[in-house]
Amino acid sequence: MQDIKEIWKHEIAAALTELARQNGIAEQVLKDQVVVEIPPKPEMGDLGIPMFPFAKMLRKGPPQIAQAVIAHLEKVGTSTRWGSVKAEGPYVNIRLEKSAVAKQVVSSILEQKETFGRPQSLTNSKIMVEFSSPNTNKPLHLGHLRNDVLGESISRILAACGAQIRKVCIINDRGIHICKSMLAYKEYGQGKTPESEGVKSDRFVGDWYVKFHKMSQEDPSAEERAQELLRKWEQGDPETVALWKQMNQWAVEGVKKTYERTGVSFDQYYFESQTYLKGKEEVLKGLEQGLFYREEDGSVWVDLTAEGLDKKVLLRKDGTSLYITQDIGTAIFRHHDWPFERLVYVVGSEQQYHFKVLFKVLEKLGYDWAKNLYHLSYGMVNLPEGKMKSREGTVVDADDLIDNLKEMALQEIREKNREEAVGDGESVAEKIAVGALHYYLLQVSPTKDMLFNPKESLSFNGNTGPYLQYMGARISSMLRKKTGTLAESGQIKPELLTGEAEWALIKTLAAYPETVQLAATQMDPSVIAAYLYELSKAFSRFYHDCPILNAETADLAASRLALSQAVLQVLRSAMTLVCIPFLDVM
Ligand code: ARG
Repeated sequence: MQDIKEIWKHEIAAALTELARQNGIAEQVLKDQVVVEIPPKPEMGDLGIPMFPFAKMLRKGPPQIAQAVIAHLEKVGTSTRWGSVKAEGPYVNIRLEKSAVAKQVVSSILEQKETFGRPQSLTNSKIMVEFSSPNTNKPLHLGHLRNDVLGESISRILAACGAQIRKVCIINDRGIHICKSMLAYKEYGQGKTPESEGVKSDRFVGDWYVKFHKMSQEDPSAEERAQELLRKWEQGDPETVALWKQMNQWAVEGVKKTYERTGVSFDQYYFESQTYLKGKEEVLKGLEQGLFYREEDGSVWVDLTAEGLDKKVLLRKDGTSLYITQDIGTAIFRHHDWPFERLVYVVGSEQQYHFKVLFKVLEKLGYDWAKNLYHLSYGMVNLPEGKMKSREGTVVDADDLIDNLKEMALQEIREKNREEAVGDGESVAEKIAVGALHYYLLQVSPTKDMLFNPKESLSFNGNTGPYLQYMGARISSMLRKKTGTLAESGQIKPELLTGEAEWALIKTLAAYPETVQLAATQMDPSVIAAYLYELSKAFSRFYHDCPILNAETADLAASRLALSQAVLQVLRSAMTLVCIPFLDVM
């Protein structure tokens, strides 16, 4: 509805300016001072504009202003061109001229195609988005899947608003966690490889991590041996470094395969092993400048009590770095590589405190861009009790989960005898699995904790990814069958589309650009997810109420097809924003 709303805002602002002039007030009302609301009841109109904000300036009561505005709109003819207006108390309520709006909306979508719904409000801004950022001792798990799709989706939404986006990932490839996998492998796995064991390479590394935990339960000295490996690594012991390289390569290779599967990608990877020394250097510099202090045991700290935070250790007593140390170095490298206007960290809510401290430390170090760092914190995700056995009993492996969903989708395809119709069943089932997963994860606001219910996520008739995919496939198949014949015999006249179901659908389509804008402002893909569901429901109702092929006239048929095509376009664009694969057949 963006364009239509803009027209009305402009017209009302002009009317208010004129009213002021008539009363000897030389103030101009700008378009953006006019607020557009949706009236509480549909019979009151499609749009409602409150007059309260102008009472002081015009020295009149809001109801009086509403009356005067209406008189003016009638005089200049706005009301006949774009809809009818009515004063209702302090509001100017507008009933839109359906045929004018229908024509405007359908033709702009068909003309603009995939560029429809790109508000361009962020043109020229450079936004870096960090997400996923795994450790290299384990494969990705369910929590990463939520992180990954949030990061990817937010990047796409911001890009749709015109921002330049750089997607980055930090691989935490250094530290005690990876040394634990290395130790177990060193002691029990010599000669074994992912190939020899027939397992995905990140899982191979993860299995040694699990093995380490068993070892340390039986023999407490295992912890000390892992620490010893870390010391050797820090000293650059060739054999240790070689093993570390090998294990990391396996881990990263495997993780990248999972990204490929879910359609997630990065413009640049950062590795902790390459940034932590920079962090250390910065901390020592800060120490010299008196920003930080040294404890008696030799460790280096920052005191943030004056800022409402706490004291925090930045370097251990033996001089080794911590998790936060590498983040200091990483942020500095990133800003150097690509001077961003904003850097968004998509990281779980359990790290809120960490990021508060990190941002303050960077600010203290004098980096003025530190104020443009933002932690997009998201909640936990779990499976309901007893839904799927996880390998370690605690976390759910990402690949296992997708395999599981895919298997269920395949079964559904077979049960419905759709194997032949869909062609490559395997690939369709994989896309259904990813769509189900992504939609379910994004439909909840990022900050909320949630449960992922695999069966529910796959339901074909509910608020799910597969339901949206099914809607897309249904419209595609209808257009494949009918476009040629009907478009030839009839003329597209969107102004004919004024029936109740058609009007509801057109209003939904018109709201797409502002929905994308809202999702970007709030950095919340659930706004798009909710929109997609509304759009599908509105289409369903239209499809049910309005015959297309058997419409009363050929023009009406062609126009309804054009409307369906516009719906397909918007559905597809919005699905892309929330990372749900589109399917032509299902
Ligand atoms: N690898 C870390 C973990 O698994 C998350 C990293 C988040 N990003 C960051 N810049 N600290 O907990």
